[in-house]
Amino acid sequence: MGKAYRLTEHAYDVVVVGAGGAGLRATLGMTASGLSTACITKVFPTRSHTVAAQGGMSAALANMGEDDWRWHMYDTVKGSDWLGDQDAIEYMCREAIPAVVELEHYGVPFSRTDDGRIYQRPFGGMTTRFGEGIAQRTCAAADRTGHAILHTLYQQSLKHNAEFFIEYFAIDLLMNDEGACKGVLAWDLATGELHVFRAQMVLLATGGYGRTYFSCTSAHTCTGDGNAMVLRAGLPLQDMEFVQFHPTGIYGSGCLITEGVRGEGGYLTNSDGERFMERYAPNAKDLASRDVVSRSMTIEINEGRGVGEEKDHIQLHLEHLGADLINSKLPGIAESARIFAGIDVTREPIPVLPTVHYNMGGIPTNYQGEVVTLRDGDPDHVIPGLMAIGEAACVSVHGANRLGSNSLLDLIVFGRAAAMRAVELVKPGQPHEPLNDAVVDKVLDRFDKMRFANGEIAVASLRIEMQKTMQNHAAVFRTGELIEKGLIRLQELLAQMESLRVSDRSMVWNTDLVEAIELLNLMPQAIVTAQSALNRTESRGAQARDDYPERDDENWMKHTLATIDESGRVAIQYRPVHMYTQTDEVEVIPPKARVY
Ligand code: FUM
Repeated sequence: MGKAYRLTEHAYDVVVVGAGGAGLRATLGMTASGLSTACITKVFPTRSHTVAAQGGMSAALANMGEDDWRWHMYDTVKGSDWLGDQDAIEYMCREAIPAVVELEHYGVPFSRTDDGRIYQRPFGGMTTRFGEGIAQRTCAAADRTGHAILHTLYQQSLKHNAEFFIEYFAIDLLMNDEGACKGVLAWDLATGELHVFRAQMVLLATGGYGRTYFSCTSAHTCTGDGNAMVLRAGLPLQDMEFVQFHPTGIYGSGCLITEGVRGEGGYLTNSDGERFMERYAPNAKDLASRDVVSRSMTIEINEGRGVGEEKDHIQLHLEHLGADLINSKLPGIAESARIFAGIDVTREPIPVLPTVHYNMGGIPTNYQGEVVTLRDGDPDHVIPGLMAIGEAACVSVHGANRLGSNSLLDLIVFGRAAAMRAVELVKPGQPHEPLNDAVVDKVLDRFDKMRFANGEIAVASLRIEMQKTMQNHAAVFRTGELIEKGLIRLQELLAQMESLRVSDRSMVWNTDLVEAIELLNLMPQAIVTAQSALNRTESRGAQARDDYPERDDENWMKHTLATIDESGRVAIQYRPVHMYTQTDEVEVIPPKARVY
């Protein structure tokens, strides 16, 4: 095994790839239950993108007014535009309550009410009594909730002796001939060594692929590495056409300004100084769900009511909230606005623009984190040895549109659920079956092809072409014609991958090669996103087709499953949405018009 490389071999019960909120919650659960657990991470754990999550984590604790997890479930199903799986949504909203209490006990420093309970703020689409009132459901640690959660989970994982392999870049899954996952191959960026990690269960917690777009709130590391590994294993990704635009990225930099600003009373205006959301969402106004607010802002700009010299953005006001509230509840965004827009938020509005923020699509899983696919007529066929959680996964609890603060929740609830499932499935210390050398050699061949790429095209120039193509052809509003043109361009760019140049051949801290492999990962995800969007001839949640403006439940209440081969050919199948609940504590929420 190993061609020209000396490979270091490790054997664990479970290996988690990724150390964001989902990866760390799973790592903690598995190591604390006695499974030997390795966590491989491309960046230092507390630099994972969860650290940037601001506004909070939803859970119907009812600390600041009446609430019920069934109302949370209703809001999430409606927010998903009826594409979410209702059994999984039920599970997430019910388990939110113990999951957040557990975090509190682990030591997460949540903000507090005067009587010492966890502070909760309103967020978009979160209501009481099935849409009647506004819920205060989002548990917050000021506007640095992700930071607080990530640091706590990392400390707890260390306390329970999880083993971390930090700044190790996972290259590919090791899949045997029967289609089961047997481990992962990773590259230690600091020493240049390659490592084979054998595991009874590999859990992908590798985050989203926001960096397929030009302007996004995601970190540069958000390249969907796990998603790409799944595609290379011949498995599908689900619902990739649903890409969320957050209404309030800072104009020009894309840096996130939390929805918590609007939760605390902030509002949007156009060039007439009008609070235009009152026209689009008379009840929820600025706290309508994200797809609705992003589309409304885009319409205002397209119809000439944008602000600034080029009338190409919108203003977000929080001056009226006063310095005391801003300093105690929103200190991080005051700092971001100062650094990235030169704005003092106590005096001036922040210039904002809808910016790519989240991928609803990803690796299809059941609510226990097991990777599933459609096989031999079974829409929920489980792939042995492989799990996925967090933004990498599509459970699907967010369907066509995620509600703000349901992401931190998803990370924690399904990180916890996957750990519990792994404990049921994996016997500690079980010996590993021998692995055919050809499995590793295939991965090394692909690695070498990138390492020794000696064409004439720089990685950065191909990447920016892909990002601009996605930004211009698969954004807030789409048409078939626009997407088709984008796909033609993406196929040309894929062909140019053969002419890529990687100038550094070394194995130690070779960032040129890291970026080349990340591009290798991004490119097929861009193509399946565009192809899935083209095929879905309806508008639902984040997919707004000008040429098909209505939701079409009769034909399209189904999940897209897309695979892609090495030549860029995409194959698409569909699997049904779970229109059933897990327990009889709730009933299925039937589809209806989605108004806020
Ligand atoms: O606006 C925000 O604070 C983002 C939260 C989220 O995406 O869940």
